[in-house]
Amino acid sequence: MRRMWFSVVSCALLWLGCVRSHLLSQPEVDTHIQLQEQLISQHNDSAYVQRVMRLAKSAEMRSYMQPELDACDDFFGYSCGMWPKINPANAAQPRETNYQQLLANGYQHKQQRLLEQPADADSDDVAVLKLKQFYASCLRFRQTPEALYRQQLLEIAAEFGRMPALALPGQQWPADGFDWLATVAHIKRKYGLDIILLLQQAPDPHNKTQSRLYVGQPPRFVVEPNRAAVVQRIAIQLEQHLGVEAALARRTAQEITDLEMLLAKGMSTRPIGPLALPRSTVELTNAYAPTLNLTHYVELALQRPLQPEEMLYEHVVTYQAHLLVVLAQTPPHVLANYIFHKLLDRFYYDRSAPVVGQCLANVRELFPELLNNMAYRQYAAPATLSDIDAVWQQIKLSFHNVLESSSTDWLSVATRSHLLDQLNATRLLINGHAQVNFTERYKQLELKPQDYLFNLRAVLAHSTQFATPTSSPNVPTYDPEENQVLLPVSLLQPNFLWSRFYPRALRYGSLGTIIAEQLAHSLDRRAGWDAATLAEFGKRKACFRHQYERLRFAGEYLPATELQDDNIADNTAVQLAYLGYKNYLANLASSALITEYLPQMSHSPQQLFFISYAQLWCNDANEQFRDKQSLLAAGTPNALRVQGALANLDAFASAFGCANETPMNPEQKCHMYAKNLN
Ligand SMILES: *[C@@H]1O[C@H](CO)[C@@H](O)[C@H](O)[C@H]1NC(C)=O
Ligand SMILES: *[C@@H]1O[C@H](CO)[C@@H](O)[C@H](O)[C@H]1NC(C)=O
Ligand SMILES: *[C@@H]1O[C@H](CO)[C@@H](O)[C@H](O)[C@H]1NC(C)=O
Ligand SMILES: *[C@@H]1O[C@H](CO)[C@@H](O)[C@H](O)[C@H]1NC(C)=O
Ligand SMILES: *[C@@H]1O[C@H](CO)[C@@H](O)[C@H](O)[C@H]1NC(C)=O
Repeated sequence: MRRMWFSVVSCALLWLGCVRSHLLSQPEVDTHIQLQEQLISQHNDSAYVQRVMRLAKSAEMRSYMQPELDACDDFFGYSCGMWPKINPANAAQPRETNYQQLLANGYQHKQQRLLEQPADADSDDVAVLKLKQFYASCLRFRQTPEALYRQQLLEIAAEFGRMPALALPGQQWPADGFDWLATVAHIKRKYGLDIILLLQQAPDPHNKTQSRLYVGQPPRFVVEPNRAAVVQRIAIQLEQHLGVEAALARRTAQEITDLEMLLAKGMSTRPIGPLALPRSTVELTNAYAPTLNLTHYVELALQRPLQPEEMLYEHVVTYQAHLLVVLAQTPPHVLANYIFHKLLDRFYYDRSAPVVGQCLANVRELFPELLNNMAYRQYAAPATLSDIDAVWQQIKLSFHNVLESSSTDWLSVATRSHLLDQLNATRLLINGHAQVNFTERYKQLELKPQDYLFNLRAVLAHSTQFATPTSSPNVPTYDPEENQVLLPVSLLQPNFLWSRFYPRALRYGSLGTIIAEQLAHSLDRRAGWDAATLAEFGKRKACFRHQYERLRFAGEYLPATELQDDNIADNTAVQLAYLGYKNYLANLASSALITEYLPQMSHSPQQLFFISYAQLWCNDANEQFRDKQSLLAAGTPNALRVQGALANLDAFASAFGCANETPMNPEQKCHMYAKNLN
């Protein structure tokens, strides 16, 4: 897994599971400047627009900076020192604020605007019309009378039997007749929800052209630390949505929460695919007999028998072992209440939460590709795409030159030539799903104009093809299988990371380093490298390890780790982007150099490059979260990523005139692929 752009790594791993909660907790980072810019940039007098846009960008950049700090001492503080005052992290959510949230918020606003454009049968794709219809019905959900809403929820529960907490007073819930495995299998079949167990189709880890079924642990829950609050929330849901009597609701909520905690203890954040265990049908039947017959579960969920020779994968074997222990100590009525609660939870709507946020989150979870595609069609103007492609080509060229230069003489001839070929074949793809026929995909989906719960049921029922929750990463990634760098559509938004009005320094410092980082990750797989090259690689890696373990964050040293790929990619990325920018400058007519400065900033173009790089990583994380972050080694903290990568770069020291032996210009510098960029 590559380092995730957003800080919540577990979130990225379980992307689908968490999009919703993540969105609802989207912090209110200040998008004011960007919104202003969007209005202004629609103006048509380009000299005027350019002037205003540059002033705005300069104001934004300066607002985060703390210029009284010494850039050679603490460049992150120099570039981002005021960020926490402008965008403070909270004790609760948001526990971190960062620049990527600005981008995400801007993107969310744009998606909202797209959804709110009136449906137009002439110009909208049929699938888009359905999406807008769904969204509109969601916005009106409060208009559903309470009684009808409750009746619909009870109908959904009744599709799968009886929920103990809903038994009428004096009535006995028949524990004997309850088959939990069949119940979760039927729910999976009907609505695609993975409760207690997961069933999913995904590529074979060893042959990606082949699709396999994975059975096992569902995505790990994001465990909320405040359990009392969770109990309270569930109790209110049971009472308000289902009419469960208060004391029973409270007791049931406590049992549900306890069970969830217990299950979570056995869960891991491992992604589907690698490390899964191949299983024959017979093995699936017997592995956890007599308690848990996974073959039975799969057959019920698929509604077809498995062939004796069919091979499946078991996802997180240790979870299934843990599940046996949990099942043995859980009374049937608790298990049943838990399962029905998880089912209905997907259908509850919160009358007190903001409507738009809830509906937008729903749409993003249920139609992620279609929504990205709408944004893609809106923002992927040829000029934008060619701007991005120009940066890409420049960075690829830089890497090519680096790999051919004497600074990479440590690569053997064979390995070097292999890397050059691989680099040449690497492609850039903006993840807009341009190839998907959405009309075809949503052909069978029938919606009603007003009835949100009906529509939600229809959409969930429609999308239970067990297909891989299509990975449309909302973060830049490198895909080794296809040898391509994937950029999310959100990066196409004008006036964030790139703008035709800004100096190119900013484009290379931000967008350029992001692209270069993923390109650098294409060298993470070192299978096929010869032994001598690997030994040299190891020496150079050791330099990074020593360097990073001497960095201190909030007074603590970073934990020593062999996992240096991310740090190495950071270093490579800023070097490649800088080389690309240098090359751009070299070809710039001297009369045009003036455009590489910003008003009200005395910084040189090179300095602007480095500030825009550092500001990409501006963040504020509250202390509690911060400690956890470094203890869990969820990657190098942002401040040290910036310090680590720039301290190895002579070009940085000369741009800011840093004396030898200052923190940003240490004597010993580590290099993997490039050096002597001056
Ligand atoms: C530019 O804007 C002015 C007024 O806002 C308008 O009259 C003019 O037609 C516009 N020109 C173009 C090329 O859009
Ligand atoms: C991968 O699977 C396909 C069929 O799905 C098969 O044709 C191909 O030979 C397999 N490749 C390898 C390397 O096993
Ligand atoms: C497991 O389930 C399969 C499919 O339903 C069934 O054929 C088999 O008899 C079951 N095995 C056991 C031991 O229950
Ligand atoms: C890169 O690949 C293209 C074909 O995709 C080929 O024509 C070109 O010669 C290659 N360039 C180098 C430097 O290998
Ligand atoms: C997409 O699918 C629809 C419905 O199946 C079909 O009519 C249409 O021709 C397809 N569009 C393209 C571009 O293939």
